[in-house]
Amino acid sequence: MDSAEIFIRDATPDDAAPLARFIIDVCARPEGHCFQSWSGESEVACEVELREALADDTPFCMALDRNRLIGALGCQVDTERHLVWLKGPLMVEPNETLAMNLWRKLAVRVPRDLAAATVFVDVRNEFGSRFWEATGLTDKKVSHVFEWKPQDLVPAPALRLHEAGPALWRSLSELHASIFPASAVKLEEVMDPDSALNCLCVLSGENRVDGFVTFGLEGGGEGRVYTLGVRDGWRRQGLGRQLLMGAMARLLTASAARVLLTVNDVDVGARRLYESVGFRLLYSGIALRGVPLF
Ligand SMILES: CC(C)(COP(=O)(O)OP(=O)(O)OC[C@H]1O[C@@H](n2cnc3c(N)ncnc32)[C@H](O)[C@@H]1OP(=O)(O)O)[C@@H](O)C(=O)NCCC(=O)NCCS
Repeated sequence: MDSAEIFIRDATPDDAAPLARFIIDVCARPEGHCFQSWSGESEVACEVELREALADDTPFCMALDRNRLIGALGCQVDTERHLVWLKGPLMVEPNETLAMNLWRKLAVRVPRDLAAATVFVDVRNEFGSRFWEATGLTDKKVSHVFEWKPQDLVPAPALRLHEAGPALWRSLSELHASIFPASAVKLEEVMDPDSALNCLCVLSGENRVDGFVTFGLEGGGEGRVYTLGVRDGWRRQGLGRQLLMGAMARLLTASAARVLLTVNDVDVGARRLYESVGFRLLYSGIALRGVPLF
């Protein structure tokens, strides 16, 4: 590859179709796969999502060798929380110089006052993992993405599950903070009446939340379960499974074609729970976190 012929530029909404095809191709190989990369298996869903993101000024840049797309790197920025989710580097073949040039181009559009940047690459994508470690993201955590396909009916949960209305917010926030003290997820999103995030709770006593699950329907009809937590002391009594079944039943009613969730490698109990209701491992990846060196 003659580097003189390589041109790197920002992607525009008109690039959504070729970029989606490129992402799907690269991510089909575990050694190139980058999570959070609009890497759903449906090219159409990926394209729609990308077009919207690019129209919304989401930073994404592409490397072209003559007219052939050979690399791409993007990110999603949460300006309020100063968080950045990096997507890539997506490459036809590992190329450190090209990845670094893509990063230099992208970094101009990444806020410098980051609280954290996160990238999630397949465990077999050693190039991606090494590349980000070299830029300062090192906090390694292995996670698994599980998939559930609605072949069977989900039995209705036997327990009464409650929508997380205003009367439950306080207890819900406390429980969330106690189970996930390091979580960057803002539970206030659940409390926003316009939010697409749903939350079901198990209660003991009036307005006391002892378990909750958050979930939603994303682009392309993809259901997601985001967070599941049961109060210490109330575990191993079936509450987690009931909450999960409640979320899945809702997602099916909303016509989810499949349901995805991510679980940390260390959360062995949660993994067993997901497997016990029919979730199957889709990918395993390494999450790298930190503030990249610009
Ligand atoms: C994971 C969690 C939600 C499970 O809730 P729970 O109410 O205890 O789960 P259930 O009682 O419904 O368990 C269902 C099955 O999951 C598996 N399981 C749950 N906890 C387990 C543990 N600690 N060790 C091994 N298996 C476990 C078992 O197969 C169990 O079935 P069994 O009790 O018949 O053997 C709860 O432990 C929790 O809040 N953990 C901390 C937060 C977390 O890790 N959340 C998930 C990641 S987002």
